Amino acid sequence: MFRLKKNKINNMIDYTRLPAHIGVIMDGNGRWAKKRGLPRSAGHSAGADTLKKIVTECNKMGIKYITVYAFSTENWKRPKDEVDYLMNLLMNYLKDSEKTLAGENVIIKAIGLREELSPQLQDQIKKTEEFTKNNTGITMNIALNYGAREELVRAAKQIASEAVENIINIDEINSDMISSHLYTKDQPDPDFIIRTSGEERLSNFLLWQAAYSELWFCDKLWPDFTIKDLHKSIIDFQNRNRRFGGV
Ligand code: FPP
Repeated sequence: MFRLKKNKINNMIDYTRLPAHIGVIMDGNGRWAKKRGLPRSAGHSAGADTLKKIVTECNKMGIKYITVYAFSTENWKRPKDEVDYLMNLLMNYLKDSEKTLAGENVIIKAIGLREELSPQLQDQIKKTEEFTKNNTGITMNIALNYGAREELVRAAKQIASEAVENIINIDEINSDMISSHLYTKDQPDPDFIIRTSGEERLSNFLLWQAAYSELWFCDKLWPDFTIKDLHKSIIDFQNRNRRFGGV
């Protein structure tokens, strides 16, 4: 049985109605660094520390899935130094999580076009996934070289080739079939998506899966996001009336 530090806010959380799957767009690392006169890399490094705290807390709370946007298919356009730094940070995060997050029972997966990542990073992803696959706590999807449109194109190609090979009939194609060809197959859709730093858009993150997600935005920059902010966001989520198109 896990123990939560008691404070007023987490006493207001209904632990029987937690989101099943939280998506997080961890935005604002660059601005956080700039405000302090630091290089952008310092913001990413601080963001990685925040991520560890938030995942650990979600796991303690009993949330079963979290997907975090670490590197998008568009992020390659950033200066090479920044891309190299982020790749290196991800590599170390994965290596390190064998000691930290994995020890806390976290299952780690990467979602996205991993074929385009360096062979070393691909090997490390495989190793970390293998190392954590028998854990039973939260599943953390790290969206890495991820873009929702690419994910949907990939699914469309797979389904089309199954139709060409007569494995499926075109009439059988439905939304469940599309979901089952996404990186998040076998996982519930995110019911809650958080984005920090005051930007209010999805930026090609889980577009299909977010059809009914509750969206939550805050002005804080990602490295400043705290466990208390997470608790506040979950209370807001629990106060919303989710109708899924009904009345
Ligand atoms: C957006 O902030 C953030 C990213 C593009 C990278 C997110 C990465 C991390 C939080 C750390 C690494 C993650 C892992 C899993 C180790 P931005 O750089 O666009 O910030 P800005 O909008 O203020 O410039």
